[in-house]
Amino acid sequence: MRITIFGATGRMGRLLVRQALDAGHTVTAYARTPDKLPLAHANLSVVAGQLDDDEAILEAVRAADAVVEGVGSESAATRRIIAAMGTAGVRRLVVVSTCSVPDPADRLDLKFQALVRLVRTAAPRAWAEVRSAAEAVRASDLDWTLVRVAKLNDRPATGDIKAGHYGQGVVGLSISRADMAAFLLGQVTDRTHLRQAPAISN
Ligand SMILES: NC(=O)c1ccc[n+]([C@@H]2O[C@H](COP(=O)([O-])OP(=O)(O)OC[C@H]3O[C@@H](n4cnc5c(N)ncnc54)[C@H](OP(=O)(O)O)[C@@H]3O)[C@@H](O)[C@H]2O)c1
Repeated sequence: MRITIFGATGRMGRLLVRQALDAGHTVTAYARTPDKLPLAHANLSVVAGQLDDDEAILEAVRAADAVVEGVGSESAATRRIIAAMGTAGVRRLVVVSTCSVPDPADRLDLKFQALVRLVRTAAPRAWAEVRSAAEAVRASDLDWTLVRVAKLNDRPATGDIKAGHYGQGVVGLSISRADMAAFLLGQVTDRTHLRQAPAISN
């Protein structure tokens, strides 16, 4: 498949690019700093651009079968990507989100509620942006999946990834970037979580 990745130069994003290429996909990496992607591969192309560059975003998604977005708390960028996908007729969108975005199926205990309050207090802009981005994704008519994570680490991949909802005794707070990348990549072809917002952890 042809996958466009936003956030490709990040710590998780670089792993995602590598995993996608290793799996035989053709990758377009969107980057404001292409030099941060120290990879050369016949199936990798890079589109350089900022997150407000509509032309470059459209160029990056135009030929994609699926788009994965992991740039973080930038709701305007999410909206621009959704618009570009609409223009290009690309339907599958997998977006990295966080535990600050609620889902009706969550059953949050007091500890978890305190964590989200802490995030809101410590990083109010990020808290608001990630929720606004999730609203835009949910309001779109794309084939979207919001993948919610709480805390990332750089441990090796385990392949043991829990997916579900917070507060139901299955999903915890932490996941490795390698396992997260694997889950995101899986979503490109797996429609189990279509128009859903699974939380994931190790
Ligand atoms: N760290 C955590 O515990 C945690 C928790 C919940 C969710 N997340 C989310 O998980 C994803 C991966 O996390 P990570 O820690 O591996 O990410 P990271 O290393 O911080 O990388 C973030 C990526 O987004 C790009 N980006 C961020 N702001 C941008 C902007 N204003 N304009 C253009 N590009 C921008 C970065 O580009 P440059 O390389 O050019 O800077 C980079 O490619 C992110 O979406 C993050 O928000 C992380």
